[in-house]
Amino acid sequence: LAKRREDYQTAGFSIPLVHLDFNLNSEATIVTNTMLVLREDHSKQYLRLDGQDLSLLECLVNGEVFSDYELTNDYLHLTLPDNEHEFTIVVKTLCNPKANTSLEGLYYASNTFCTQCEAEGFRRITYFLDRPDILSSYSVSITADKDAYPYLLSNGNLTSKETLADGKHKVSWQDPHKKPAYLFALVAGDFDLLEGHYVTSSGREVALQIFVEQGRQAQAEHALVSLQKSMRWDEETYGLEYDLDIYMVVAVDFFNMGAMENKGLNIFNSKFVLAQPQSATDEDYFNIESIIAHEYFHNWTGNRVTCRDWFQLSLKEGLTVFRDQQFSADMTSELSNRIKQINVMRSQQFAEDASAMAHPIRPDEVIEMNNFYTLTVYDKGAEVIRMLHTLLGKDGFRKGMDLYFARHDGHAVTCDDFIAAMQDANAYDLSYFAHWYSQSGTPQVTVQQLYDAAQKTLTVVVKQETKPTFDQKNKRPLLLPIKYECIAANGAAQFCVEDAREGLVIMTDTTQTMTFKEVPDGTCINLFTDFSAPVRVNQYNDLDAWFHILRYAKQPLTIWEASQNIYSSIILDAYHALSTQQSVDFASVMNWQTFNTWLEAQAGQPELLAEVLSLPTIEQLLQDLTHVDILLLHAAKAQFEKALAMFSYNTLQALFTNLEAVQSTYVYRTEDVHRRKLKNVILQYISIKEPNACFEQFVHSNNMTDLQGALKIAININHPRVDWLLNEFKTRWSHDLVVMDKWFAMQASQECSDILAKLTLLQEHPAFSINNPNKVRALIGSFAMFNTLGFHAEDGSGYRYVADFIMELDGVNAQVAARLVTPLTQWQKYNTVRQRSMCAQLERILVTPDLSKDVYEKVSKSLAQS
Ligand code: ARG
Ligand code: ZN
Repeated sequence: LAKRREDYQTAGFSIPLVHLDFNLNSEATIVTNTMLVLREDHSKQYLRLDGQDLSLLECLVNGEVFSDYELTNDYLHLTLPDNEHEFTIVVKTLCNPKANTSLEGLYYASNTFCTQCEAEGFRRITYFLDRPDILSSYSVSITADKDAYPYLLSNGNLTSKETLADGKHKVSWQDPHKKPAYLFALVAGDFDLLEGHYVTSSGREVALQIFVEQGRQAQAEHALVSLQKSMRWDEETYGLEYDLDIYMVVAVDFFNMGAMENKGLNIFNSKFVLAQPQSATDEDYFNIESIIAHEYFHNWTGNRVTCRDWFQLSLKEGLTVFRDQQFSADMTSELSNRIKQINVMRSQQFAEDASAMAHPIRPDEVIEMNNFYTLTVYDKGAEVIRMLHTLLGKDGFRKGMDLYFARHDGHAVTCDDFIAAMQDANAYDLSYFAHWYSQSGTPQVTVQQLYDAAQKTLTVVVKQETKPTFDQKNKRPLLLPIKYECIAANGAAQFCVEDAREGLVIMTDTTQTMTFKEVPDGTCINLFTDFSAPVRVNQYNDLDAWFHILRYAKQPLTIWEASQNIYSSIILDAYHALSTQQSVDFASVMNWQTFNTWLEAQAGQPELLAEVLSLPTIEQLLQDLTHVDILLLHAAKAQFEKALAMFSYNTLQALFTNLEAVQSTYVYRTEDVHRRKLKNVILQYISIKEPNACFEQFVHSNNMTDLQGALKIAININHPRVDWLLNEFKTRWSHDLVVMDKWFAMQASQECSDILAKLTLLQEHPAFSINNPNKVRALIGSFAMFNTLGFHAEDGSGYRYVADFIMELDGVNAQVAARLVTPLTQWQKYNTVRQRSMCAQLERILVTPDLSKDVYEKVSKSLAQS
């Protein structure tokens, strides 16, 4: 069942030219595919074309009806005549887009025809060599009803357009760039069109077109501006220009993921295109800008240079995520972006490494490729690229990128090719670094500091160890770039390790010793500043050291790091106290006076304050524990949050009043975003003491960020009028299905005793549909991920509820069902009772008749460890 990376072989055939003719009908679409096929390897007799859920109507080879083939559920095997090199093969197939609820291949939903081909969806459209190393020139013609589908779109340039008799029309497209099948796209429907335009640095005029649901044109402005900014940024930063005369983005309501970078025709989940102040939050605006950029950046990192095989996915995804992170930092600000990325790694990617789904950023074994669009491949992949950037420096990294494009433009390549380009451009040996591509798991780092008062030297001993993961027993030490910051009480320490680049040490072995000289007594050092390597690190056990760092560190990230360590340490102590039925005296766990004075002094830095006042997530707190009683951990965090609300109340109230005073009309701009974020973080604390505060904000807010912020707080603190507020929200927004997702998600995260009955009722709501991934994620996904008390209910009812839903969804949309399995596969972290009930649900899922391989892969791996 599984495919292995080491088994890669070339196809033996190439397909330089494809013409696809579509006759669109929602229940019976006919695709006629004419391919020019070349036999590259003359020992190959069979041509095995991939195909799934297709009915073959006709097969011609070189103009003649061909019958020397074998047809299975997954393939069409053609036994081609010997001694010939070149074939024209025509396959004509029938498919049913409306019945295709998997939303892969060609599907029909909301009166729109749409495709999704990555990773292996093209085979649901026609028989083909559906693998990324087959690069072809595409031409496409589409025929459909003109009134129902005025727009017929595909990749590249429009070459002809004609109105036919019988109310139909026909258009043709030609893509001048060769591409793998996964970048093919087709959309047919009725839309509003927002048009813009862009002139590239070398003077190419590009038409920009954003297609959205009728009546929502104005909501696409932010996406359009984001696209223009992305195009400019990639020219300025990497010298990369757009290469077609038209760039289209289509927003659709039914989509399995965020967006897809199809050549010249991006398809987006509508929630990552549409925005207006009343209905979109600051976070929505941010996500739109960064995802528009991500898909645009793929035009070079992904499309012009693509992957040889799917094991190389991080080649394009890790690199493109890194690029979109750089872009977002440039467009908004460095600190909050970096913190967001670090939190994703610590809350989610580390958890993946600790689960049965652990895999290297370049996986070795895959059953269902869709299961490997993971935090590891994407986000850890981006961290690995970031380390390269740290090692080579900005200019060195750029040189490596230039060489990568010079060597590989127009080709399908591997992660090793990328590393080789970086290495050769800089004459920098990366062979040891490259183990980051093959080793899974999170290195655990410990730090020992020894101060010699007489010599005034500080010796720091760093050790790394990667524990065996479920997929891999033997681990080796990895190359770790260690950025560090020295913090002296006088605030002005200037010293560093001998022979090292300032502020950076490169560790390659299990143990590394660094000696700092001329170090005044009472100096602290913070290692892995800026999360310079994706490791877990334990530096100080005593709060005093962290308080010292909080007060005297220069770098905001170090200050934030200190705050998180302080909170974690107090919350974990409280957890242990609760487990032994002791009570905690929060008044004395820290010096609140000092803390409040410090907060007041930062009033001019809303971005930093907002981050420092945000507590670590439950998922982060879990990392350092085993056999967790999750309800106690939840209680410990809530108690600390309440303590902070009480002991810092006056300080927070004063900050809040100042922030409120500057509120005006909503604009999405960085300073305002930081102020709103801080205001909403503080509102949570204030509302714990003064529940009316969030109610007031809900009533008076003029934008979705404040409205949703207030409502989420009301839900968190279980405000007496929370149901009235939720209802009010629904009444205001029931006409907007994108906003209703927020409503579903908030309901699902409500920690109330009748939550399961509520979920069942909500599944009957007219705006809910199991066929729509956004609704499923909003309702069931939010429950499993954010409703700690409900999902982890003592009696296992939350697990059972999610399992039941997964079993139902698997028959509808296996890819989305497999995503929902993730919270259950992380059973290892919890106490024995919960482990048992989570595994019992996984076992129920495993025996479901006709279980998809998507769900099978994750569930079976997870149970193999139990
Ligand atoms: N390449 C797309 C992106 O990163 C995501 C495609 C996800 N595909 C999948 N089968 N899950 O923007
Ligand atoms: Zn991507």
